[in-house]
Amino acid sequence: MRSPFRILAVLASPRRGGNSEVLLNACLEEAVKMGAHVDTFFLNSMKFVPCQECPDITGDGRCKLKDEMQKIYPLMEQADAVILASPIFFGSVSAQAKMMIDRFQCQWLGIYMLKTYKNNKRKQGVFISVEGSDRKDFFENARSVVKNFFATVGASYKYELFCPGVDEKGAVQKHPECIKKARDIGRLLVENSREAG
Ligand SMILES: Cc1cc2nc3c(=O)[nH]c(=O)nc-3n(C[C@H](O)[C@H](O)[C@H](O)COP(=O)(O)O)c2cc1C
Repeated sequence: MRSPFRILAVLASPRRGGNSEVLLNACLEEAVKMGAHVDTFFLNSMKFVPCQECPDITGDGRCKLKDEMQKIYPLMEQADAVILASPIFFGSVSAQAKMMIDRFQCQWLGIYMLKTYKNNKRKQGVFISVEGSDRKDFFENARSVVKNFFATVGASYKYELFCPGVDEKGAVQKHPECIKKARDIGRLLVENSREAG
C-alpha cells in the first residue's frame, strides 16, 4: 500500500484564526481530502530559542539545542511537502517564522560549508503570505528569505500565494480568489506526487 503524502505545515502568525491560518487551513483541507497526512505546528505556542551560533556543530545537519524545534526536524526530513504560512511583519516574514528558519543553520552549514550533510528526500515547498498593504516589495523580500530556507531543507519553491490588502482578522474571507487558490494548491500538491510516482 502506498504511504500517505506527508505535509509539514507551519503557521507563523501569532493570531489564531487570522488571515494566514484561514488560507493555510483551506489548503490543508483540500490536501487531506486527497488523502494527505498533515502535521501542523503553531510556532507562537512553541518553546524554542533563536539560533545560538554554536561553535561546535557536528555537521550531521542536527541541531543540539534541546527545545521544541526537535519536534520539527524529523518531520521535515520525512515530509513530501512543507507549507509555511506567515504574515508580512515589517516587510518580511514574522519573527516566529524567522526564528524557525534560522534554526536550520545546522543544515545549511552541513550542506554548503562542511559538505557532510545531504537532504535525502526532495519535497515541494509552498509559501503563503498576507499583508495589510499592497506593497509588492514586501512579498518579494519575504520570498527571498523563504526560497533560501526551502533550498536548505530540500524543498523546491513550488507554489506561492500572496494576498495583499488584508489587515483585520478574517479580512481574507472577502478574497474568495485567494481562498480558492489555497484550495487549488492543496489539491495540486497531492496530484503532483501521484503523477511523479
Ligand atoms: C508587527 C506587525 C507588523 C506588520 N508589518 C506589516 C508590513 O510591514 N506591511 C504590511 O503590509 N502589513 C504589515 N502588518 C499587517 C499584517 O501583515 C496583516 O494584519 C495580516 O493580515 C496579519 O496576518 P494574520 O491575520 O495571519 O496574523 C503588520 C502587522 C503587525 C502585527
